[in-house]
Amino acid sequence: MANLVYRHNRITRLTHWINALALLILLMSGLQIFNAYPHLHWGSKAEPEEAFFSIYAANEDGEIRGYTQFLDWRVDTTGFLGVQNTEMGPFPRAFPSWATIPGYFWLAGGRRWHFFFAWLFALNGLLYFFYNLARGHVRKFFFTPRDFSRLLPMALYYLRLRRESPQAGEYNPLQKMAYTGVFFFLTPLIFLSGFAMSPQLDAAFNWLPAMFGGRQSARTVHFLLTFLFAFFTFGHVVMVMTTGVINNMRSMVTGWYVEGERTPETTASSSEKSEPPANKEAHDYAEK
Ligand code: HEM
Repeated sequence: MANLVYRHNRITRLTHWINALALLILLMSGLQIFNAYPHLHWGSKAEPEEAFFSIYAANEDGEIRGYTQFLDWRVDTTGFLGVQNTEMGPFPRAFPSWATIPGYFWLAGGRRWHFFFAWLFALNGLLYFFYNLARGHVRKFFFTPRDFSRLLPMALYYLRLRRESPQAGEYNPLQKMAYTGVFFFLTPLIFLSGFAMSPQLDAAFNWLPAMFGGRQSARTVHFLLTFLFAFFTFGHVVMVMTTGVINNMRSMVTGWYVEGERTPETTASSSEKSEPPANKEAHDYAEK
């Protein structure tokens, strides 16, 4: 029989969607800021010709081509990176206008969007974290050394090479690793590397850029972490879509999850007892 489980409390649902929106805007406004100087360096100096990674446009026999270069390895990325094809013809631009906020070139505007949503992302994350820490929810997905031995069996289960799920608690070991990595590694590092790019903060706390090996290294770390966030989000959305998209989305919008609809691959299950259950069946479940 299908059971209704109250899976995500109000604060989790609210902060989750604010977080998804904030991260999208942070990504797009960050790409706008990157476009102002589309080169990456390690250390503290920035000379375009010494960059280890660059996105640029070059004139090839009268034709403008876009290139992405990593060390000596160069790829023609015309139409996507370096040169965007517009109605008025090819236009030099590192990341295309559809990937940036604002869509046209405006560094100051990009920075305003970025800093506003960075504060929103931070306060929103703190609300999620401390609220759920106080309710004992955070420890349910905190990865511990005991989870190591369950990682491979869990991966084999997802690959359908193993019949029984090794999941012991409400979150499986792969989820625990991903969430713990995002909360305790990715998020603090992306903030620290962001702060290390602020000249004012660098003047006050010179250990900040030093811990990354220089201000340019901090910028590179910040850029790479952005793509780790994007990678996590991609994997996360794939899991949401492949393990019962309607049921999963319902649980993150209304809080309620139908346990009987669960596919064998469904990842987490958590029953919350904090808010009044909507009906008896759900109540019965929550009391178990
Ligand atoms: C538009 C993109 C996104 C969609 C459609 C989405 C969807 C969902 C859904 C449906 C769930 C519930 C899954 C379940 O109950 O098992 C969930 C949980 C979760 N999502 Fe997302 N998500 C998105 C973006 C993100 C981003 C960007 C992050 C963080 C970087 C994130 C972090 C989480 C976390 C930590 C949970 C578990 C929350 C908890 O159980 O306390 N999501 N997401």
